[in-house]
Parts: sequence; C-alpha cells; structure tokens
Amino acid sequence: MRITVSLTDNRPEPWIKALRDALPDAQVEVWAPGAPQADHAVVWAPPQQLLDEQQGLAGIFNIGAGVDALLKLRLPPKAKLVRIDDGGMAVQMAEFVCHALIRHFRELDVYQEAARDGEWTYRRPRLRDEFAVGIMGMGVLGQRVASAVQQFEFPVNGWSRTPKAVDGVRGFAGAEQLGDFLAASRVLVCLLPLTPDTRGILNKTTLSQLQTGGYLINVARGGHLVEEDLIPLLDAGHLAGATLDVFQTEPLPSEHPFWRHPRITVTPHGSARTLREETVAQIAGKIRAMARGEPVAGVVDAARGY
Ligand code: NAP
Ligand code: GLV
Repeated sequence: MRITVSLTDNRPEPWIKALRDALPDAQVEVWAPGAPQADHAVVWAPPQQLLDEQQGLAGIFNIGAGVDALLKLRLPPKAKLVRIDDGGMAVQMAEFVCHALIRHFRELDVYQEAARDGEWTYRRPRLRDEFAVGIMGMGVLGQRVASAVQQFEFPVNGWSRTPKAVDGVRGFAGAEQLGDFLAASRVLVCLLPLTPDTRGILNKTTLSQLQTGGYLINVARGGHLVEEDLIPLLDAGHLAGATLDVFQTEPLPSEHPFWRHPRITVTPHGSARTLREETVAQIAGKIRAMARGEPVAGVVDAARGY
C-alpha cells in the first residue's frame, strides 16, 4: 500500500515517520508532482495538482476536523474524504470554551484591571441561570463542549441541522428553530462546519436575537461571522464581548480593529490543535478498517458540506 503526504504549514518528516511506524507495511512518502499513484493521501490544504494526478485514491485523510477548504477543490471521483473526529481536539475545545465562558461570567477581566491598579474590590455574584449557553453545532466537538459546560451548571441549549437528544441539553434543530434557540441563549458558541448554509450565520440579525448582554465565542471558522456586524453590536451594548479564534483572513491583519477592541479577545486559530500522535493513530486505524472493507467514522458527505 502506498500513502502520499502533503501538509501545507506542517513539517512532513515527523508525520511520515509516525505513519511509517503505525503502518509498517505501507510505503509512505511526501507528495511531489509526478509521484507514483497512491492508495491514500494524508493532507492539509493540498495543491489541486495532487488531486488531479492521484485519481486512483481510495481515501483522502484530512488532518483536521473542518473540510471547507478541501471541498473547494476538485476531488478524485472514487476517493472517500475522511476528517479527524475528535482525535484529542474535543477536550481542548471544551477547555478553551469553558475558559472563555467563565472568564466572562466571573468578570475576570474586571478583576485583572482592578489588580493592575492595586484595587481590592468585589463584583456582585451573577446568576448562572441568566447565562444560558447556546451551542451552534452539536457534533463531535459541540457535544463535548456541552458536557463540559454542564459541569458548571449553566443552562445549555444546542442547535443542529437534525434533531438531537442530548442529556440535559435543550435541543433545537433546523432553520425554523434558530430564532427560538438564539432567544433562549446569552452566550453563543459557534461550532458549526463552514458550508453554504452556515456561511455568515453570525450576523447583525442573528446576534441581535441573543439575550441582552450576549457574548460570542467563535471557534469554528471566520466565514461564519460577518465581521463588520460585530463591533456596532458591541458598541451599542447589545453584546457584552466576544472571544474569536477564527477570522475571515488568517493571520488576522495587524490593522484589523478586532485586535484593539477592548471587549474582543483574539486568539490565533488555536482553540483545538491537531495532535500528531492521536491523529496518526486514528488515520492508521481507519486505513486498516477500509482495507478490511469495514465502514469508518468521519466520512464527509460532500453534498452536505461536512
Ligand atoms: P461535526 O461533528 O461534523 O458537527 C457539526 C455539527 O454542526 C452537527 O451537529 C451538525 O448537525 C451541525 N450543522 C451542520 N450544518 C448545520 C446547519 N446548516 N444548521 C444547523 N446545524 C448544522 O463537526 P465537529 O467535529 O464538531 O467540528 C465542527 C467544526 O469546528 C469544524 O467543521 C471546524 O470548522 C471547527 N474546528 C475549529 C477548530 C479550531 O481550532 N478553531 C478546531 C477543530 C474544528 P447534525 O448533527 O444534524 O449533522
Ligand atoms: C481546525 O481548524 C480544524 O478544522 O481541525
């Protein structure tokens, strides 16, 4: 079996070694134009040329959860596109979202500023029942985040494309229930895939439907947020703040107003990183399962967009 590897932004050598260790019978090589036909490709943002040349691929393994960039390319007709499901990202996402939520709810920024001035001061306790957390996207990551947020006893709402019954989560589904979901939520966490249906879903109309004092945590894709709609909602006081990990242009340009807005926290698309060891173990397990003719989790439905 031959595996070709193309990982923009990642050094390929440690991945090649890890894949060779996990699949000792496979020939694993970095892709270059004209490379021999492979059975599987392990990729992140591969060039179109790879996909055009490697028409016989049975599997294309994306080393991340989101496949929006890959779906913009022409894929070989028979290849299954497989994304990472969890692979150590879910717990990272849970800790990142809980940190942003609690930092906001417990007003830790206010304390930090007071401490800077040497001020010993208390804030009145806030009621967690007034900070319902709405999670858009109740998939692998959204459900893990929901369970972590529940540990702190916040009310949790979940919104997905199809109805989901998740213990302790008030479920909403489909475009027809989006308004009710937003109206029931104060802290909004975006964990949707970026698809034609979800692009621009965080906008003036939807964010205005959150409860007053709303807080946005976008950890999905920059394309979900209509960026120019956010600052007016913050400045008008409808939204209290935002933590943004993803942006329409990445890296976020140095002149972008999000860097300097006092109520926006910017992080560099790092809320849940791909972990090489877990990812390679997952991909190797799926390649072995496919060789046995067994189904694998995380196969992308290109028509659905995720
Ligand atoms: P997933 O398991 O595929 O879950 C996607 C969820 O979104 C599902 O619940 C799905 O509904 C829902 N959904 C999709 N389209 C929808 C629509 N039109 N309306 C309502 N709900 C919709 O994906 P995941 O593994 O949790 O990952 C989610 C996203 O997180 C990725 O696509 C990626 O963009 C992002 N991500 C970001 C980082 C980072 O570092 N910032 C890291 C990893 C992932 P159904 O359940 O009904 O299918
Ligand atoms: C990262 O953003 C991913 O989709 O895995």
